[in-house]
Amino acid sequence: MSTASRQRGITIRDIRARKGGEPIVCLTAYSTPMARFLDPHVDLLLVGDSMGNVVYGMETTLGVTLDMMIAHGKAVARGTEHACLIVDLPFGSYKESPQVAYRAGARVMAETGAKGVKLEGGVEMAETIRFLATRGIPVMAHIGLTPQSLHADGGYRAHGREADEATRLMADARAIAEAGAFAVVVEGTVEAVARDITAAIPIPTIGIGASAACDGQILVTEDILGLFADFTPKFVRRYAELGAEVAKAVQAYAEDVRARRFPGPEHLFGPKKPS
Ligand code: KIV
Repeated sequence: MSTASRQRGITIRDIRARKGGEPIVCLTAYSTPMARFLDPHVDLLLVGDSMGNVVYGMETTLGVTLDMMIAHGKAVARGTEHACLIVDLPFGSYKESPQVAYRAGARVMAETGAKGVKLEGGVEMAETIRFLATRGIPVMAHIGLTPQSLHADGGYRAHGREADEATRLMADARAIAEAGAFAVVVEGTVEAVARDITAAIPIPTIGIGASAACDGQILVTEDILGLFADFTPKFVRRYAELGAEVAKAVQAYAEDVRARRFPGPEHLFGPKKPS
């Protein structure tokens, strides 16, 4: 895909303008072939740091680096023509200061061709979001269950169950919207809180385990396709069992090789035909 053709397709303004309208369809992608499959059907593709778990077999996202995000961002960009491409800023690459975040975001956008970046955090990240957004780096925020804060947060758990946490989440959402984020992922958050946030802020909320009340939805692609079996969160719906299909196909190949049924005559190179 040329850079010029990636400039077309769904823009940040288009996503922002979908607030309260037709739900925004988002999925993750980490590779060119998968991006090509997904691109015609979705509004936004996220190169998520979930690739640490899904692609690299890590237990958390904390080991994912900026270089890894950029390498996979470039790969996904090659398969993306229609969807708005966003790349995650990984753990350790942006919370130190707005300037550090700017350098990370600028590298991601310049080297991958992504239209914006996603970062985790609420009120405490508002200053950074404003710094980036006013300097040409569109920001998608991410609140509620934020996997980069797994240890500080006491593990993966639903957010907004207690009144004080619901109040903090609303303050986070208002602060990041006011700071200039163009959308916000709301993860692992109880329905009533996600609904209230969606009604209260002027930017789209993208839910993941946060109910259909949000302005859009995102899931990890491998989760919905049955390609990642380590752990399936409660909020995932499986639309296919491709992992089982892969196992079946590989078993058939192995049996054919062992029985010398593969390769067949149709796969052979013959001698050069006399001219
Ligand atoms: O890393 C990721 O893939 C994400 C989405 C699932 C929201 O943050």
